[in-house]
Amino acid sequence: MNGGATAAERGRQATGPGRTGTADGEASRGEASRGEGAAGTALLTVSHLSGAFRTAHGEETQVLRDVSFEVPSGGITAIVGETGSGKSLTALTVMGLCPPRLSVEGSVRFDGHELLGLDEDGYRRLRGGQIAMVFQDARSSLNPVLTVGRQLGDVARLHHGVNKKAAAAMVAETLARVRIPDPVRRMAQYPHQFSGGMAQRAMIAMALLCRPRMMLLDEPTTGLDVTTQADVMELVVELARQDGLTACLVTHDLGVVGETCDRVVVMRHGTVVEQAAAQDFFRSPKADYSRMLLAANRLDGGTDPVDADDSSEAADAGDAVGADAGDAAGADAVDAGDAGTDTAQADDAGRPS
Ligand SMILES: Nc1ncnc2c1ncn2[C@@H]1O[C@H](COP(=O)(O)OP(=O)(O)O)[C@@H](O)[C@H]1O
Ligand SMILES: [Mg+2]
Repeated sequence: MNGGATAAERGRQATGPGRTGTADGEASRGEASRGEGAAGTALLTVSHLSGAFRTAHGEETQVLRDVSFEVPSGGITAIVGETGSGKSLTALTVMGLCPPRLSVEGSVRFDGHELLGLDEDGYRRLRGGQIAMVFQDARSSLNPVLTVGRQLGDVARLHHGVNKKAAAAMVAETLARVRIPDPVRRMAQYPHQFSGGMAQRAMIAMALLCRPRMMLLDEPTTGLDVTTQADVMELVVELARQDGLTACLVTHDLGVVGETCDRVVVMRHGTVVEQAAAQDFFRSPKADYSRMLLAANRLDGGTDPVDADDSSEAADAGDAVGADAGDAAGADAVDAGDAGTDTAQADDAGRPS
């Protein structure tokens, strides 16, 4: 469903070169703008967003229907819903990366600025410095022929105008923050030498290096084994909280959502069926579909996320909401292999109980 851009292109576009500045080109980022908007005000507002694919014969397939939701400033919002419900297309539309055959209408406002209709230059200024997106297939978002250190170093240099040495120091520090052991050694390695979980952490590091105001993560853990999934999710939430970032997390892991997110948006069949504070959502979901999701989560072995005190059990529940089983099986093997040779990584994957 990637349309014109490959995952690798999208990855580089979204977290790669770009200048800081607001969506309409003012260079007003930094601590002051980061603090803008008291908690509770929306940083991102999607209103009445509709989208349809047009075939060559002029037929239309409606895939987004009047999608409206808000992502409050400084909080963590989860978007959940079954596969095919329009989560990725919504996220890609926010970044100006939706497939060319998709025609969209409505409004996407970021910090008060309308994004729909921005030209490529406008989106380039937005991507990375304002909103950094992490895609679900980390390995294909990394360039296979460049070392991880070089790719992340390029991002640091372009976003912060620092020299190679300073960029390398920033990269090492950021890789350590995402808990990649022995970051300096790892920087000299190529993506294929990283396990799935570590590649995903490297992509999160790339997003953090841009010092965005908002992180948009589209199923950042799909394709990883269950314990690594929960680790990566918890890491994202922890880092976002530490940096006071606004985060929007597309996920199927209701266990982690219940433990860590502030707000939940539920999508189905291209539309939003419910949005609520996480506590209210888990205690008294309004939509029938939300109740079904929560029931499926429990049936699948998950505990009620609100009452869960064993996070590994809650993490097991994830697949209920549309994980791609094929993907998960493929990447498991990679992670398992790596864990055997890299004890630090294997330890890192151990779940707190
Ligand atoms: N490039 C594409 N061409 C045609 N249909 C697409 C394309 N990308 C997505 N779709 C369709 O749009 C709908 C929403 O897709 P998507 O946003 O990827 O769902 P989700 O991320 O919630 O799984 C699905 O029915 C999907 O089949
Ligand atoms: Mg998707």
